Amino acid sequence: MIVQNERGDLIFLNTKSASYVLWIDQWKCLHCLHFGGKIAGNVRYLGQTEFKSFSPTPPDILIEGVSPDLTANEYPDFGQGDFRSPAAVIRRKDGTSHSRFRYCSHEVFRGVPACEGLPHVRQTEGAETLTVRLADAISGVEIFLYYVVFEGLDVIVRHAEFYNPTAERVLLERAYSFSVDLAGTRRDILTLHGQHLGERMPVRRAVTRGRYTVSSARGASSHQDNPFLALLSPSCTEEEGECMGVTLLYSGSFALSVEEGQTGLLRLLGGINDENFRWRLEPGARFVTPQAVLAWSQRGLGALSRTFADLFRESVLPRRYAYARRPIVINNWEATYFDFTTDTLLPFIDEAAKLGADTFVLDDGWFGARNSDRAGLGDWFVNEEKLPGGLGALISRCKEHGMRFGLWIEPEMISRDSALFCAHPDWAVGREGERCESRHQYVLDFSRSEVRDEIFARIAALLRAYEISYIKWDMNRHITECCSAGLPAEGQGEFLHRYVLGVYEFARRLTEEFPNVLFEGCAGGGGRFDGGMLYYFPQIWTSDNTDAYDRTRIQYGTSIAYPLSAMSCHVSACPNHQTGRVTPLASRGLVASLGATGYELDPSKLTKEEREQIALQIRAYRAIEPLILRGDCYRLCDPFADNYFCMAVVAKDGAEAYVVGQQRLACADGQLRRVRIPGLRAETRYHIEELSLEAYGSTLMHAGLNLPLLGDFGSWCWHIRAAEEQ
Ligand code: GLA
Repeated sequence: MIVQNERGDLIFLNTKSASYVLWIDQWKCLHCLHFGGKIAGNVRYLGQTEFKSFSPTPPDILIEGVSPDLTANEYPDFGQGDFRSPAAVIRRKDGTSHSRFRYCSHEVFRGVPACEGLPHVRQTEGAETLTVRLADAISGVEIFLYYVVFEGLDVIVRHAEFYNPTAERVLLERAYSFSVDLAGTRRDILTLHGQHLGERMPVRRAVTRGRYTVSSARGASSHQDNPFLALLSPSCTEEEGECMGVTLLYSGSFALSVEEGQTGLLRLLGGINDENFRWRLEPGARFVTPQAVLAWSQRGLGALSRTFADLFRESVLPRRYAYARRPIVINNWEATYFDFTTDTLLPFIDEAAKLGADTFVLDDGWFGARNSDRAGLGDWFVNEEKLPGGLGALISRCKEHGMRFGLWIEPEMISRDSALFCAHPDWAVGREGERCESRHQYVLDFSRSEVRDEIFARIAALLRAYEISYIKWDMNRHITECCSAGLPAEGQGEFLHRYVLGVYEFARRLTEEFPNVLFEGCAGGGGRFDGGMLYYFPQIWTSDNTDAYDRTRIQYGTSIAYPLSAMSCHVSACPNHQTGRVTPLASRGLVASLGATGYELDPSKLTKEEREQIALQIRAYRAIEPLILRGDCYRLCDPFADNYFCMAVVAKDGAEAYVVGQQRLACADGQLRRVRIPGLRAETRYHIEELSLEAYGSTLMHAGLNLPLLGDFGSWCWHIRAAEEQ
């Protein structure tokens, strides 16, 4: 609920258990006094500061020694006394860029704002929005700060919008989505980093004086750095302690920074990465920044993750798919790579059907002259040498088995060796002789509508011609030369953001025109796993690494910021193609069951026992799928710190839980370990199927269950159900 005091200078954004408090002081400077547990009353005293030398006072502040350098500023300006990192930099025609942002007005409305061209939280019951209008006293530019309050969720979604009411163009050299100054208590920073085949590994470190930034300059949110950052009290654990986190609904180059300055206040800010960013804001024009989702928890990191998961499922994922059962796919990539024909795929489909998979996905290699990763991207026409007569024979075979058909595409890319490149060499980002190659391909200039239109026409033609129910949308390289032939010299600094807007426009058109197609995101695995993509795609291929042990770490890290149902997880063959490791099929199946499950192997190479096992895995998955889609995730053993990985998914009403664990290495010491199963009902009796055991919820929550002793990479699961509800 949004509450204001009578004088109108204090605004409380109250959620279930948190308050975010804004204060407009007598000079019309906007401050954040608090973001944390719920507070009320006259809290202006929280804005008091102590004078320090070398802290300047702007000319409109008439008391000497009052300086923005010392206060908790909301959306701080540049060059008017606050020497910390600014939220925006506006350069005027005369070359100067100092700004003085002052409060003008505010209003409250029900519902959520539209963020034209960008993914945003969807209309959600109970959501309320505060808009604060600031004006730059020096350039005249207006800034609208939006705060969407999700009362039931301890979530506030922020973004900023710039409007130029003046007669002259200005340049936005930084236009962050949000900035908040938090009162000084010690905190740790938690971020998610990695690389291809090892995404979203959590890294935790203490905040110290100075600035820490997590960012991507790759044109995609990237495998390396995820647009997520959490601040934790040093004693915060999975289940206890205070923390807050932010994630951006943005898929391009981003930055999130934390800065501790001389006052001990902690500034958290971010949005579009401002390296190479420069936006021309013409007279009368607006610029909308991506949304930043801020969440708060006083019950540990686990509760913060569950809040993000709820927010994504309720208000970000495409409504139609958010809670819908997902296809259990069998994908031919690791089974065949580029080497297939209709004749080899038909028996593949026959065997896949026997396993119980419901969608066959034809991966890379079905189009153009695509016999390796050196050619063909952009030529989205079926390769009739491999697949004579087109995709029809494969689709018919799928239908005979009651299966559906899915297809891989990589719309944003172009191979040098392609008909498209011969026809339109200038459609590739960069210039001849200057372009870097990565995976032998270039990036198509999706900032240009004529490029998007042509690719859209090609892909839409396929979707119209064939019964395709699933698309895997890949993106296998990052952007090097940040420039566009479609932009004038002074507009080149807009390219990376315009590219992302182009991708969003393309995704919107495709998903709107083909609402019955489930689109899965992918970027060389999890290279664009972010809230922006999840607005269009309900699930994302989590990593190209399908090794059952590595996956425990990747999925553990990903679950910190995203719901399990957003993670696409496949069982692949052994030895694993990425690591060479051999893990039991049961382990691979259980780890892959903690997401949108599927298979990525050649069914004809399986033994009879393996086939039977997979058929059982698929049936078992369908039984627990509602928990994956709707349940609460608890991380019980941390595979980065422990020989065990363990995760529980518990029904919101506590009636049921599904627990999966893995023991990395067998050990002879035989020490007894236990995990407690949270989220159950204390007085209910539960049946644990695999243990043929009955126990009260209180026992499971407070004493727990003994972990089994298994061989290397052995996994187990427990189905825990309220005995009286069986
Ligand atoms: C990327 C994807 C893989 C596969 C290949 C095909 O690496 O992440 O799953 O689709 O491309 O080239």
